[in-house]
Amino acid sequence: MTHYDLILRNADIATVGDRYTADIGVRGGRIVAIAQALEGEASETLDAAGRLVTPGGVDGHVHLDQPTSDGSKFADDFFTGTRSAACGGTTTVLPFALQFKGHSLQEAVDDYHRRAEGKAVIDYAFHLIVSDPTKDVTQRELPALIEQGYTSIKVYMTYDDLKLGDRQIIEVLAAARKHGAMTMIHAENSDCIAWLTEQLLEAGLTAPRYHSSSRPMAVEREATHRAIALAELLDTPILIVHVSGREAIEQIHWARGRGLPVFAETCPQYLFLSAEDLGIDPDHPMKGAGCICSPPPRDKANQQFVWNGLSSGLFTIVSSDHAPFSMGGEGGKLAGGEEASFDRIPNGVPGIETRLPLLMSEGVLAGRIDIHRFVELTSTHPARLYGLYPRKGTIAVGSDADLVVWDVFEPGQARTLTNTMLHHAVDYTPYEGMQLRAWPAITLSRGRTVWANGVFDAAPGSGEFLPCLRPQVPRNASPIGKWL
Ligand code: URP
Ligand code: ZN
Ligand code: ZN
Repeated sequence: MTHYDLILRNADIATVGDRYTADIGVRGGRIVAIAQALEGEASETLDAAGRLVTPGGVDGHVHLDQPTSDGSKFADDFFTGTRSAACGGTTTVLPFALQFKGHSLQEAVDDYHRRAEGKAVIDYAFHLIVSDPTKDVTQRELPALIEQGYTSIKVYMTYDDLKLGDRQIIEVLAAARKHGAMTMIHAENSDCIAWLTEQLLEAGLTAPRYHSSSRPMAVEREATHRAIALAELLDTPILIVHVSGREAIEQIHWARGRGLPVFAETCPQYLFLSAEDLGIDPDHPMKGAGCICSPPPRDKANQQFVWNGLSSGLFTIVSSDHAPFSMGGEGGKLAGGEEASFDRIPNGVPGIETRLPLLMSEGVLAGRIDIHRFVELTSTHPARLYGLYPRKGTIAVGSDADLVVWDVFEPGQARTLTNTMLHHAVDYTPYEGMQLRAWPAITLSRGRTVWANGVFDAAPGSGEFLPCLRPQVPRNASPIGKWL
């Protein structure tokens, strides 16, 4: 009789292409059989009882224990961050190994492995942040690291300690093209932000809500267009990260119309937060600090454009951009004091655990996207884009047994989201009070039950590092193909 480590019975399986009920047999951390009434014995049997089962989430943009140069401190390390991910149905994360100027990429990668080892509870791969693209970096280090499985690179067009000029971006894109990597671009015009910030501070407009005024949509639109132009020139794919609203979306739409392989990521903060959240409480203006991120959340009309981009196929992936700064404490959002100007508040919001439940509730269950698109945006496409498919990102024989069994609540039974429910080390969630109609009942990571019925159970260090293959173009990309 066939023996399995685990059989998950009566699963309502949803993938990008299919929806059917079956049993899933797992051995050695992989899916080895999918069948109706699967025969065989198992060391462990779980009953999904007809509940929805999706592939574990792949979060293609998170910041965990990332070193900083300004005294700010990410609250989550690889244990608390991946624990939080697992409890929210994510089974693979891709944080960033950040190169400091004057240092090598290899130093960043070695340091980041030390931070992850013995701590991660789910599987992880690394993107590279290139802040100093010397000849040695682009001609020797990048090719070697891409070959070793670090196949995605983030570059910044803003932030003084990270930003690259156009010429430097071109050097990175040329190396990415030659060696087959994916380049992620943070698209905001640095000089515009610097000038606007100076004007606002001189006028005494320092509260968190002026963060939005210092980074208006035109700043993102211009940089998005420039990034696309550079990618066209180099004939190489790019992913525009954390796209916030209409005008950047229009640039991406335009690029796709030209047949360019320009991919796009958005994040829950652009669906559920707006500029109002940065200053909604006049008695407590610093509360808005919790919603400061870059690009900033836009107005409510822009949220609808982002939803449209999810349903239309324009967006390739939805990531959390989990940037876990606490409000209080050393290195937190308010470490500069109650009078700190917006430009001294660390940028970013937490969201590694809430990404999937919020998108399931407000996307799928509210009828804005279907379940197949949900799987595509949150799991399959990030796995393909970053060279982890089909090991990650689907439910298929041979894939890792990374699975989420969902509890879905009737509209009248929705749960109220509070930070106390979450498993990150951050002292707030920007989504406090939102109504949730779904939450993972069970998360399996390589066949191990890491989260079940409200209990987290995984040993620090049980997550594995995943070397990435070169990116596989998601199906909604333009068929330019020249770069492959
Ligand atoms: O404000 C943000 N997005 N902070 C995280 C860092 C980044 O640029 O992704
Ligand atoms: Zn960024
Ligand atoms: Zn980020």
